[in-house]
Amino acid sequence: MENTLYERMGGENVIRSLANDIADNHLANPLIKTRFEIVEDMDKVKQIVFEFICAGTGGPQTYTGKGMLGAHKGMNISEQEFIAVVDDILLAMDQNNIGETEKKDMLAIAYSLKDEIIHV
Ligand code: HEM
Repeated sequence: MENTLYERMGGENVIRSLANDIADNHLANPLIKTRFEIVEDMDKVKQIVFEFICAGTGGPQTYTGKGMLGAHKGMNISEQEFIAVVDDILLAMDQNNIGETEKKDMLAIAYSLKDEIIHV
């Protein structure tokens, strides 16, 4: 059987670093940083995003966070903000030397979630 995306990205340690870098990129991104500057416990969000990526790519971790609709409901997130988040994810994948095939796979997963996140 083909390796999981989790394994192809490098597993737990790389994904831990990836989740941290995604959050840091959001905080540095002028299009969305105000969304994250007001979050009280960014360490908790980093941990939940770590679990989300692990569980969603075939890792053994359990996801303990909310569903995507519940997590983003009422924020009125725009298409531009959604693209900014996806760009930050792809940038973080470059920062962690993750391959192009894996970036495409992650892009497809992220895109598939858009209707649970944009204008909900
Ligand atoms: C593919 C796109 C996205 C994914 C996979 C994603 C994933 C997540 C996850 C897993 C959480 C944690 C949920 C929990 O605490 O239980 C979260 C929280 C959050 N997301 Fe997203 N998200 C995406 C897009 C966005 C966008 C476009 C924005 C706005 C610019 C956004 C803003 C937030 C904020 C502000 C929180 C923290 C809420 C809080 O704890 O106060 N997200 N997201």
